[in-house]
Amino acid sequence: MSRIFSGVKPTGHLTLGNYLGALRRWVEVDQHRADALFSVVDLHALTMEHDPARVRRLSRQAATLLLAVGLDPERCTVFVQSHVGEHTRLSYLLECTAMDGELRRMIQYKEKGAQARAAGQSVRLSLLTYPVLMAADILAYGTDEVPVGEDQTQHVELARDLAVRFNQRYGHTFTVPKATHPTVAARVMDLQDPTSKMGKSHDSGAGIVYLLDDPDQVRRKVMRARTDSGTEVSYDREASPGVANLLEVLAACAGGEPGELAGGYGSYGALKRDVADAVVEVLRPVQKRHAELAADGAYVDGVMREGAARAREMARPRVDAAHAAIGLLPG
Ligand code: TYM
Repeated sequence: MSRIFSGVKPTGHLTLGNYLGALRRWVEVDQHRADALFSVVDLHALTMEHDPARVRRLSRQAATLLLAVGLDPERCTVFVQSHVGEHTRLSYLLECTAMDGELRRMIQYKEKGAQARAAGQSVRLSLLTYPVLMAADILAYGTDEVPVGEDQTQHVELARDLAVRFNQRYGHTFTVPKATHPTVAARVMDLQDPTSKMGKSHDSGAGIVYLLDDPDQVRRKVMRARTDSGTEVSYDREASPGVANLLEVLAACAGGEPGELAGGYGSYGALKRDVADAVVEVLRPVQKRHAELAADGAYVDGVMREGAARAREMARPRVDAAHAAIGLLPG
């Protein structure tokens, strides 16, 4: 059975982009066809200025949402990254395998580093080493597949490079993983700025649909989505990115192909109404289940505790092997 690992970082409230690009596939496909692990990767939320209480709150909320969207602890392992020490133990070994130059080339490092500098903040060293920790998340479990949105491709490539390099130098230790993406909505764009990704930590929330937005908020955000100066509804990511994004969201939520759906609309208003309805329907059961689970924090904590124990057992032998292979004495 193949092994799958993926994660979400608690740097903000989870978005429709997270759901359509990643979470939904974990629930509907991945947990049924593979030995899968899904993690709230909280250590990754410490790479930029952060408020400890907020990270704690968002981590619990993300854990609750992973269960609310339908991850089943009987079928897969759900856990919080910082509860499993193997990730950081392996990360250092991989830091000794990675090169400074390849990390400085990472797009997210460049973008987020620039963002921090523009806000007058210094850049944390962990922002640079973040993709190495992500590689450790993946490689610790002998992962074959990493289901992610398109924005994570470069990071998964680095994990592949590090696995190959480590294996060549120190003997076969790691499986070489590959990224997989959804066929539609692999990159959901911000509704107000359809040339940039809908991201949790974007400055204004106006173009971001959060999984816990109520129906009125969803409708307002979708109806105000930036479209293009034309009036014709056509699927063209280059010429009409705003409309193309809405068509992709509609296809992902209600079915169909974005290009074919376009033919059914004579106006942007009608398209937006259908997108809003489709998103509200997709979020309704998630929000209902979230409310139930949020009222039972002890259950969610218990699932995370058991998940961490399982994950630790799965990761330890491979991380021990890497420890020995690189030249460290066994403890
Ligand atoms: P994060 O927390 O930014 O996003 C979690 C998942 O959601 C996907 N995603 C999107 N997909 C489509 N459209 C969007 N607008 C959109 N925004 C986010 C992301 O591609 C991702 O799949 N570095 C990772 C977390 C991570 C991880 C890992 C993932 C840490 N270790 C190991 C996989 C394996 C991140 O920042 O995801």
